[in-house]
Amino acid sequence: MSKPVAIVTGAGSGIGESVATHLYSQGYKVIIADLNLTSGQTVASHLGPDALFIQTDVSSYASQARLFKRAYEWGGNRLDFCHANAGIDDRQNIFEPAEKEELDEEGLLKKLNTKTMEVNLEAVIQGLWLFKYYVRRSREGGGGKGWFVATSSAAGLYHMSQCPQYTASKYGVIGLCRASGPVFVKEGITVNAICPAFIPTNLCPPEVARCWPKEHITPLSTVNKAIDKFLADDTLTGQAVELSQENIYFRKQHDWPNESQKWIGLESDKIWDEGYKEPPKREGY
Ligand SMILES: NC(=O)c1ccc[n+]([C@@H]2O[C@H](COP(=O)([O-])OP(=O)(O)OC[C@H]3O[C@@H](n4cnc5c(N)ncnc54)[C@H](O)[C@@H]3O)[C@@H](O)[C@H]2O)c1
Repeated sequence: MSKPVAIVTGAGSGIGESVATHLYSQGYKVIIADLNLTSGQTVASHLGPDALFIQTDVSSYASQARLFKRAYEWGGNRLDFCHANAGIDDRQNIFEPAEKEELDEEGLLKKLNTKTMEVNLEAVIQGLWLFKYYVRRSREGGGGKGWFVATSSAAGLYHMSQCPQYTASKYGVIGLCRASGPVFVKEGITVNAICPAFIPTNLCPPEVARCWPKEHITPLSTVNKAIDKFLADDTLTGQAVELSQENIYFRKQHDWPNESQKWIGLESDKIWDEGYKEPPKREGY
């Protein structure tokens, strides 16, 4: 029986490194996918022969598609688990002061740098798209289970005014998992989001890490606790799991405010299904 195979993006550091190490210790072959060559190679070589570093920029579809193909082939035509975890904070401040605003040659305000959305949300959507494809192929060969975990954040449940794009991307990740998880589980793929509170990693500015009170730190072990929950229960899907200190909390979506919204939430599916049998044709786009 071949070993199960996992891709972890952003595994060169922090949460991804911790999950990759945990899966490795559970007998997985692990692909360390990271933009950072040095840290990615270091993590893979510390783990051992069943770890492979593949330098990847998740914000490039071509790069991620190559990652999945190579991982699947290296794993023996098998892929079981993907943690879409790579993430960055805001690269340009939407509140930028007037003196920093720049115009192009046409006199138009230059586009806001939205790399955060590409890495934190677009790449997760494309990752799920690629994962589904390779899990289906894995099954043709008799292997391949389907666990997809995406890293959202507590900022995806509340908000972080210092990083509005980060907040928006993390809300998006939860929406993606809640909407797709209950459907994908019908073909044996679970899709869940983790929403960590503060974990001191390379993501956070050093001055924040220095000042942060110890009692409000969440340890990396709590992330692995959530991963173990998902692995232990093939029916757990569409969940947003908040991680705070040593605890994990399954967070429900908002309550419906009235009966009409409840009807739409619980009973309108058949009508929507009819409307979306094929993507609706629209004029002009
Ligand atoms: N640390 C926290 O407190 C915290 C809380 C909530 C959510 N998160 C989320 O956890 C995830 C992991 O962050 P972390 O805290 O471990 O940070 P980290 O900076 O330690 O690790 C992130 C890794 O992602 C890699 N990366 C960045 N852009 C990439 C790209 N385009 N392609 C591939 N790899 C790329 C980096 O090189 C790095 O190794 C992120 O999605 C982050 O938003 C972190």
